[in-house]
Amino acid sequence: MTNTIFHGFKKKIQGKIKVPGDKSISHRAVLLGAIAEGETTVDGFLMGDDCLHTMKCMRQLGVRIEKSGESLIIIGNGIDGLSEPVDVLDVGNSGTAMRLMIGLLAARPFYSVLVGDASIHQRPMDRVVLPLKQMGADIYGRSNNRLAPITVNGSKLHGTEYHSPVSSAQVKSAILLAGLQTEGTTVVREPELSRDHTERMIRAFGGSVLTEGTVHTITGPQKLTGTHIKVPGDISSAAFFIAAALITPDSHLIIEDVGINPTRTGILDILNSMGADISLENQRIVNDEPVSDLVVRSSSLQGTEIGGDVIPRLIDEIPILALIATQAEGQTVIKDAAELKVKETNRIVTVVSQLRKLGADIEETEDGMIINGQPGKPLKGGDVNSFGDHRIGMMLAIASQVANEPINVERTDSIAVSFPTFNELLESVR
Ligand code: S3P
Repeated sequence: MTNTIFHGFKKKIQGKIKVPGDKSISHRAVLLGAIAEGETTVDGFLMGDDCLHTMKCMRQLGVRIEKSGESLIIIGNGIDGLSEPVDVLDVGNSGTAMRLMIGLLAARPFYSVLVGDASIHQRPMDRVVLPLKQMGADIYGRSNNRLAPITVNGSKLHGTEYHSPVSSAQVKSAILLAGLQTEGTTVVREPELSRDHTERMIRAFGGSVLTEGTVHTITGPQKLTGTHIKVPGDISSAAFFIAAALITPDSHLIIEDVGINPTRTGILDILNSMGADISLENQRIVNDEPVSDLVVRSSSLQGTEIGGDVIPRLIDEIPILALIATQAEGQTVIKDAAELKVKETNRIVTVVSQLRKLGADIEETEDGMIINGQPGKPLKGGDVNSFGDHRIGMMLAIASQVANEPINVERTDSIAVSFPTFNELLESVR
């Protein structure tokens, strides 16, 4: 396990960068390319640990996937082209890989076992197992079918209508991937709209999903056709650099080609309401996904309240928003975010405990946290831990912009899950 010392107190952030491809879109490009008929080319695929696990699993399921320069070529043979894996499918640290594959495999006529790392084996899988069982799936897991390892005995499913208690794109996508293969109509309702990359990408592959408000309907079986996918930069990765530029005086950063799908831009809306100077330039649509360049300048920020239906639109950005809030005038309250407890770590606990070590005024609540910003006062340095959570590791690295002593972050190897070039990119803009 690696640790890294970050020391960047007041080092202004400047330049023009690109961040790696969107993690959610990269997973879906491989999964859908693998079950489509014909060749799919993916440009900008995220070569991070999570998506590499998905790619490896698809290869174990018999799909030919090759790297060609910067692109990935997937030779799909249709859904029937998948074959029984001879070994367990290992998703590593990736909840998206495990949950989406459970949905995909539930309707395949073979047996598969899904495993992952220690974090994945603690995260709830019943949220996808239950609706799939409602469709007739035969799935087992530890702890009364709640935890991985998960065994999927593929079977013929029937359509259903499922009211999801959580606004989760992974739950929605697992059901849609099963519904895609199932005779009849499958409906999934979610409390608030979660990221809609699966719906958009099914359409990009020539399939159809109907969305009305927060209700999604798919009628199967459908055939998908191979296509050309261009993956935009991940706004969740860009968020760390946006934060660094905002909280460091005299910064001016341009981040090119960032995905600004409205189901992901809660961070921009909240930062805007806090007084951040961020402008969107060169807006365009690529593969049905909106993309833009972001121009960010250092800003004086005000505390705010973050809760309600914006939460699914910024759930992965809450760790970095908490750091930003330590540099904003007044109080920031984050609520309705109990989902943070079932991420790669319990992010309410890991964010609050590690930022406190650095001297931040932050406390846990039942469904979020409260931060009292102290804009003029530097954070301290010292030893902190990512606990194997990539986004906690990157947030702590960015904290070094406002800490007057070095910060030693333990377990920085986890950053490669979503952003393998993070350290070099940070050095390049300092
Ligand atoms: C993801 C959905 C979100 C998000 C995760 C990626 C996806 O999780 O936190 O990083 O790609 O579908 P939930 O579906 O659990 O909210």
